[in-house]
Amino acid sequence: MFKGRSLIEPDDFTIEELEELLLLTKKIREDREKFSESCRKRILAALFFEPSTRTRLSFEAAMLRLGGSCLGFADPSSSSAAKGESLADTIRVVSSYADIAVIRSPKEGAALLAKQYSSIPIINAGDGGHYHPTQTLTDLATIKQFYGSFEGITAGFCGDLKFGRTVHSLAKILTRYKKVKIIFISPKELGVPAYIKDILNKRNIQYSETACLEEVMGELDILYMTRVQRERFLNEEEYLRLKDTYILTPEKMKAAKPTMIVLHPLPRLNEIDVEVDADPRAVYFKQAEYGMYVRMALLALLLDAV
Ligand code: CP
Repeated sequence: MFKGRSLIEPDDFTIEELEELLLLTKKIREDREKFSESCRKRILAALFFEPSTRTRLSFEAAMLRLGGSCLGFADPSSSSAAKGESLADTIRVVSSYADIAVIRSPKEGAALLAKQYSSIPIINAGDGGHYHPTQTLTDLATIKQFYGSFEGITAGFCGDLKFGRTVHSLAKILTRYKKVKIIFISPKELGVPAYIKDILNKRNIQYSETACLEEVMGELDILYMTRVQRERFLNEEEYLRLKDTYILTPEKMKAAKPTMIVLHPLPRLNEIDVEVDADPRAVYFKQAEYGMYVRMALLALLLDAV
């Protein structure tokens, strides 16, 4: 039962609910027209306190393609947040204008706080370096389509694993599936946070850490590349030193399994050479496209519109 619920953390849905959502995503992808009036007269509020291309536009496209409407802001300087209004007050007011709200904030826990003051469902579109659960739904839909299963996979996460909220969210969700193995590939300074490792330990998930992508490339079923997140660094010199630690090239892809797929939440900077884009195993642009279908399914379910 999805009606009226919020999505704040990756664990908010059961494995059965995830399956239902992914099934609806597939149905929508295969016959978009059938759902074109599902959310007629419903309004999505998109409150983005941080920059975004994919998440905001795919949510808005999702609502428009379901026959609904959108309002909101992409730049908090154009909202009363710039005058000092609290998130709690903002969400109380927006709750009376819209039927569902999606919120992105640089502050960890912002979506959870919004939920506490909201009378409509809240969807977390990224809270600081914490979680990004709708990216995770997108990642799952892409893995299901292009790899086929979650059980027994070896997933390598590469890059900025300290600040990468998409990594934290997907790693947490993968613990739900049997015989998953995770390899974290990062410089020591950008290693995955202790609270994620605690979750993996508690759930008996096999994981390892390395700084060398080439060393583990041949083992991976999924390679999840990430951008080094300049906006979260306190020290610019440290960012400049670390930003190009990993660059995936066609040469490095030669060591990968023919069945491995490369994911990236995007935006991409230098960490994947554009020449890799032509490799059929590079599915990150399809992943961005699937983000819209997954968000259509999510909106329709939370609004009880299917
Ligand atoms: N993947 C993702 O969150 O992209 P945006 O920052 O462009 O929304």
